[in-house]
Amino acid sequence: MSKRFYITTAIDYVNGQPHLGHAYEKVIADVIARSRRALGEEVFFLTGLDEHGQKVQQAAQADGKSAQAYCDELAVSWTALAAKLGLTNDDFVRTTSARHKEVVQAILTKLHAEGHFYQDSRDGFYSTKEETFVTEKERLPDGTFPAHYGEVVKLSETNWYFKLGAHQQWLIDHIEANPAFIQPESRRNEILGFLKNNVLEDLCISRPAARLTWGIPIPFDPAYVTYVWFDALVNYVSVPAALGDPVICGALGTENSSFIPHTSSLSAWPADAHVIGKDIIKFHAVYWPIMLKAMNLPMPRQLLVQGWWQKDGAKMSKSTGNVVDPVAIIDDWGLDAFRFYVVRELDIGPDGNWTDAGFAARYQAELANGLGNLVNRSLSMLKRYRNSVVPARHDELAPDSAKATADTIAHLRASELQRALHSVWILVTRANQYVDQTAPFKLAKDPAQAARLDEVLYNLAETCRVLAVLLHPFIPGTAAKIYGQLNLPGAPDKLVLAAWGGLQAGHTIGEPAALFPRRDQPAK
Ligand code: ME8
Ligand code: MG
Repeated sequence: MSKRFYITTAIDYVNGQPHLGHAYEKVIADVIARSRRALGEEVFFLTGLDEHGQKVQQAAQADGKSAQAYCDELAVSWTALAAKLGLTNDDFVRTTSARHKEVVQAILTKLHAEGHFYQDSRDGFYSTKEETFVTEKERLPDGTFPAHYGEVVKLSETNWYFKLGAHQQWLIDHIEANPAFIQPESRRNEILGFLKNNVLEDLCISRPAARLTWGIPIPFDPAYVTYVWFDALVNYVSVPAALGDPVICGALGTENSSFIPHTSSLSAWPADAHVIGKDIIKFHAVYWPIMLKAMNLPMPRQLLVQGWWQKDGAKMSKSTGNVVDPVAIIDDWGLDAFRFYVVRELDIGPDGNWTDAGFAARYQAELANGLGNLVNRSLSMLKRYRNSVVPARHDELAPDSAKATADTIAHLRASELQRALHSVWILVTRANQYVDQTAPFKLAKDPAQAARLDEVLYNLAETCRVLAVLLHPFIPGTAAKIYGQLNLPGAPDKLVLAAWGGLQAGHTIGEPAALFPRRDQPAK
């Protein structure tokens, strides 16, 4: 059993409203997962929901529902979003599931037995919005706390603490020795700067059940539930553990636990990539590695940190109504237009800005007039001039195709998705120029040019086929349509299929149809 390429997304707070930022992160992870499968690797792709905490407890109370019923209702729209985005996730984690809770408790029991925790009483400030303690250091000059904390209240509490501080130098060494561990580089520098200039405070891992019941009970002290981040981060190992991952089960000693199905065994850990947003980097680059080290588990190979989307230059926020609803965009423009746009527009790392006009402009230029026009005119001419029958192989565009394929594959291996699309579009543009330069519509009028027309038509149809293969990880529905219009069996889902010459002379293609209808009005 070989280890799968294991990729995760952040698990979304169930009580939030799914928006562009959540959708973007999931699409990036899905493109990487599909790329790896296309490269011939086995993949385990995990996404899901973060359901515990005070905010959920309070919202459920206000709604007059049990917290679980409240979560179950909200989970419907999130699982629907995953389907709407065309995600190929292999599992979907909910932190209120029995399998997850049992692994969290097994970890707490083990780390407690090994002396990683202690009890302490502290006075401080608490932000319910971020479910975190806030220190005096963070007070602004005017005496208030930064707005993202919401209401901050004074709190004096006894809790359980996890000894983080002891691992600070080890973590610095690990990040320095593994340049790929935190990407992009700017985020790595941010974390190294933080670690080198601050003394890590121990992490509070409990909340008194007296004020918060909606959490996983601490197995060695029933007066407490688990801090929501200690619970949430564990999702990355709880699901593989519940599926019998030998590395995790071995380290946790859970091989014989009742929740492990002895029929299946997934080999996933360590994760190859945790895809997350920039606001939660500290949890993933500081707390999570130290938790894993305490558990005796190998480190994840990469944290891939995406920037944040704004809309029209301002923060997306439910209160101002300034949100991009991915479902509305997909219903209006189609799934592939959305997937293409977010990956093409924003590299993984910097912040991005959504404008409806920018979306419509890329749709028109790159999808309708670029890819769509190329495929439609190539196949329509083959139908009209050659009765849909593929002529003899000809290699005029083979070098361009080979270059685009090699570059795309190299970028996909490095999770450089925007660059990969850029490489593909060099081929799209080249092939559209080739149509203009060779002018097959003129060649068709001159019987003496029949052989040349055969050559041109082959090059165009074969380029369309190669494009379907290269684009499959990004816009799988469109890739399948191109394959369908070429009347090819199977799916363009393996990158080896991008080798030039796949279309056979004498093969009859199917019916051409517009992939991206031209639209006059901007996105609503
Ligand atoms: O933080 N642009 O959940 P969450 C890009 N439950 N990404 C964005 C974004 C934006 N405008 N807004 C949010 C949580 N995100 C925790 C995670 S993981 C063990 C627990 C991203 O629902 C955000 O950065 O607040 C995060 O990666 C993800 O959406 C979920 O955010
Ligand atoms: Mg958030």
